Amino acid sequence: MIVERAPAKINLALHVRRRREDGYHEIETLFAFLEDGDEVRAAITDTPSFVATGPFANALGDAGDNLVIRAEAAFRQAFAIDSAHALLLVKRLPVASGIGGGSADAAATLRALARLHGVPLDDPRLIACAEALGSDVPACLVGTTALGRGRGEQLHPLEGTAGIPVLLVNPGVALSTADVFARWDGRDSGALGAGRPIVLAMRGRNDLEVPARMLAPDIDAVIEVLGKAARPWLVRMSGSGATCFALYDTADDRARAASAIRRSGKGWWCLESALL
Ligand code: C5P
Repeated sequence: MIVERAPAKINLALHVRRRREDGYHEIETLFAFLEDGDEVRAAITDTPSFVATGPFANALGDAGDNLVIRAEAAFRQAFAIDSAHALLLVKRLPVASGIGGGSADAAATLRALARLHGVPLDDPRLIACAEALGSDVPACLVGTTALGRGRGEQLHPLEGTAGIPVLLVNPGVALSTADVFARWDGRDSGALGAGRPIVLAMRGRNDLEVPARMLAPDIDAVIEVLGKAARPWLVRMSGSGATCFALYDTADDRARAASAIRRSGKGWWCLESALL
């Protein structure tokens, strides 16, 4: 039995530059990963199986849409594997929430199967599987802070975020990435540029915040409450939302902000973690 963590992903910045002919958008984003997330367990077996447990297991869609099952099928096809797998997903992250839950699960499945079958993690066929499964899956496969270009699959790793205290807050609204991108106004507000991740994060923006707010006005309230609690040095929405994050200098500030969120009585999902 192989156990692989599936760390939550956040976009410290996400600049949308243009809509492409293929329907995707050209983006420049700064990916970062958290110490916490989902978990995937995999073993070789005679009879294929998939089980989901954890607080958000019931929110998963049909098996046909499940990225763990799709990743397993893609892996078996790419590497001509005949054996079947028993897969277990511990679903701790809310679904359709801008923190890459499904992409992280797909990437963790690919890593687990690669370890089971002796495939190196930089095998081009494994990376091709990741790209076919979703725009964020290649970043989740590597799992380190990185600049992402193209539709998010062209990666350039960066250092300098480890240990930064982070608080995630989700107002309980699931958003479709395609619906949020479709509402982007088409205006290019400029490049993300180059530099240290913290500088890029502070200078950057999330161009999907405005379209996501149209679909989930609660995002405004989350950003407002996070901005007022403790002393965050950055508050922003992640990905296509609706999860927002705040970054702090100390774990004490993060704990004070988390208690303020819990005391607010709004019933928002909240996760105290740190960047990898
Ligand atoms: O790649 P993924 O399946 O995660 O993307 C989901 C949807 O989000 C795409 O079908 C597309 O509508 C939108 N998207 C986009 N530009 C990107 C990434 C995703 O338009 N760079």
